[in-house]
Formats: sequence, C-alpha cells, structure tokens
Amino acid sequence: MSAIIVVGAQWGDEGKGRVVDGLAREAQLVARFNGGDNAGHTVVAEGHTLKLHLVPSGILYQTATCLIGAGVVVNPEQLTAEMDELAAIGVDVGPAHLKLSAAAHIILPTHRALDGAREEARGQTALGTTKRGIGPVYADKAARVNPRAGDMINPEQFAEQVADRVRAHNRRLKEQYGLETLSPQQAAARYCEYARRLAPHLVDGSALVGETLAAGRTVLCEGAQGMLLDLDHGTYPYVTSSSVTSGGALTGLGFGPQHVSRVVGVVKAYTTRVGTGPFLTELLDETGEQIREAGNEYGTTTGRPRRCGWLDLVILRYAARINGLDELALTKLDVLSGLERLKVAVAYERDGERVQPSVAKYFPAEFGVEALAEWKPVYEELPGWAEDITGVRARADLPAAAQEYVARIEELVDAPVTFIGVGPEREQAIRMTNDQ
Ligand code: IMP
Repeated sequence: MSAIIVVGAQWGDEGKGRVVDGLAREAQLVARFNGGDNAGHTVVAEGHTLKLHLVPSGILYQTATCLIGAGVVVNPEQLTAEMDELAAIGVDVGPAHLKLSAAAHIILPTHRALDGAREEARGQTALGTTKRGIGPVYADKAARVNPRAGDMINPEQFAEQVADRVRAHNRRLKEQYGLETLSPQQAAARYCEYARRLAPHLVDGSALVGETLAAGRTVLCEGAQGMLLDLDHGTYPYVTSSSVTSGGALTGLGFGPQHVSRVVGVVKAYTTRVGTGPFLTELLDETGEQIREAGNEYGTTTGRPRRCGWLDLVILRYAARINGLDELALTKLDVLSGLERLKVAVAYERDGERVQPSVAKYFPAEFGVEALAEWKPVYEELPGWAEDITGVRARADLPAAAQEYVARIEELVDAPVTFIGVGPEREQAIRMTNDQ
C-alpha cells in the first residue's frame, strides 16, 4: 500500500544499511534504486558483520523479497560474490528471494578501467571516485549503448554484446590514455557464465513494485550514497553519477509519487566525506582525528580514511527540502561521547556577512563548488557529554546534553528524529516509532 524511501542526507556513509535493516521487518519488498558497488552497506546481525555493496540490506529477512532496481548499475562479479558470501552463512539468495530488474545496466571490466584511467589523467583535479566504473557505465547508459541485465536472458548473444562494448572501450583505453587493453573474448566468456547464473533472478522490476503496492503491501526503497553526491543536486562535479534523492526512488524503481508514505533521511551525528570536493565543516585537527578513530571512519568499499567534521545543519535543511524528508534517523550519536564542546553549522557567511539569507539557509549547490570556496560556516556551540550512551534505549535516558543536541537538530531542520543509533549492534538504538 505504501512506499517508504530511505535516503542519505549527507555525503553517503550515514548508516543507511542499518536503518533499512530495521525497517525491513515491516516490508514485503526491499528495493535498491540507484548506484552500484561503489556503495557499501555494513549490516551487523547475529554475530556476522556483512559488507554488502549490491544486495539490498533487507536480505537478512526471509519475509521480504529483495529487488535490485532499474536505476542500479550491476557488476555481476561483485553480485555473485556477495550471493556466495550470504549463502555461506545460510541466507537464502535464491531467485524467489533476490530479484534483478531486467532494466538495470551492467558494468563491464572496461568501465572500471576507464574510470581509473580518467581519474589518473585528471591528476590534481581527480574526483576521488571509487573506480568501480560508475561514471563510465552511467555515461554509456545515457548514450544508449550499454548492455542491460535483461540481455542476460540469452547468454550467448549477451556475450557478443559484451565483447563489442569491450572492443569500443579498448579503443579509448589505448588511443586516449595509452593503456593496455582487455581481452574481449575473456570478458565475453566470463559474462556468459554470469548470465547463466543470474538469468533466473531477472524480473520486470517496476511490475513487481507495482503489484506489491497494488496488493496493499509495503515497499522499502533503499538509496545508496547521500544527498550531496546526487548528480543533479549535489556538489557537482564532485558527485556520483546517479539520482540519489527520493525522486531517484521513483525513477529508479518505476512507481508514482502517490504511493510514498514516508521519506526517511539518514543523518550521521557528524559529517564525513570520502573523495575530493568542498566540505565546509571539515576538521583537519585532532578532533577530526578523534572522530575518525571513534567512528571507524574508513571506507567500506575502498578502505580510504573518511574526511570528518562537525554536523552541518545547512546541508540537512537542503536535504530535507530536496527529498521532502518526513523524519530523520540519526546514527552514531555515541561517537560524539567524550567531546567537551560540540559545534553545529547553522548558516554560511561570506566576508563576515550572511549575504543572501536564502542561500545561507540552504546549501548553495546550484552555484557550483567555486562559489563555495568563499563561504565559511557559522557555528553554534553546544555542550558535549562524557557518559557512555551505548546502553541507552530511551531518548529520555540520554544525558541532558545529548538530548539537547538531538532537539536542536530537530528544531533547525524542522523534522523529527525517529531513530537514534547509539552503537553498531542491531539492538543499540533508540526507536521513537515501533517499526525501526
Ligand atoms: P563514484 O560514485 O565511484 O563515481 O565516486 C564519485 C564520488 O562519490 C567520490 O567522491 C566517491 O568517494 C563518492 N562515493 C561513491 N559512493 C559512495 C558511498 O557509498 N559512500 C560515500 N561516498 C561515495
């Protein structure tokens, strides 16, 4: 009957997997709508720490079917490896439980090679991509030349398509970048095998979503990355190549806005970013280091240390506006324990003045990253707390300063916080609604 959309409200790595995992209990379909294996969702359950890149975080619930939607780009090597890992710990990844939209696009080894080559060639101006081929595969999708998952129905024909694309990419690798080429035959043979394995999982993804909604059931839409990495509304060009926002759920899965009942924005209690690009509240000092270590802020996909900084409420207001956030899921509040004073950015200023209130109120992404270089955050200071909060399960039991921190976020973003993560384990959370 309704679709719940979960999106990241910062630069990714907010802990969406954890929130999706909590909501999945109530859903009959959990559907990933954007990105590829550039994303990394860590789910901790029953003694296992799972690092999922493509399989939706809801896979641990047998009650929900999982769908990799049309808006996703799929590296079949990664997908089959994750399926093997899950099967090894007894999770059902059969075609009845895990489905792949026929309209999803396929990542080829040469997409990854081109991603790396382009980054290398950019030198100082590299975007800091995950080198998973994301930019090149979405470019091929937009150019209408890329193989789709549905082509795997006929493995031999699919293999030919793969070989053709690899040959085209090879020309660019050689002529543009002077690099080694990849064997089209080898790629074709491997992808033919992937096709045989994945073909039984193929479905008409939008039909599955539509039928689930029509039957009065709940579809949980799982976003990857975060608001400011959105291709249209993020800090372009320091963005990923997909639609990360709640709008991306509608296009990436193929259903209408009337079905959306809730949009949940996942917010980390501080800010992190991997890769290059503007980050106004970044901490390049000991406090930043302390947060990185306490929060284990190293990339799930690449292992890179994440840049860390204070919570930026200007970004969150922007995320709330663009996504239509109904509520916030606040993660990793425990990481801030022990910091004497906390800062949150409440506005931006230039030359000591808030030049345009509308711009200072929201993140000014449309003006481009150069404009941002002149802006500085205006901070509000809040008291910290020393107590260990990992055992707290009710908001009223949090130290007064932590309650104040949460309340200030709600006030300045104008959205209620309905979930607070106080530790990495599934049960280490404060839930203000019954369903997370
Ligand atoms: P790409 O998506 O690999 O092309 O990378 C583009 C930018 O998005 C880089 O700054 C990456 O670090 C960032 N990025 C991509 N996926 C994630 C993610 O899941 N979490 C955080 N950052 C990401």
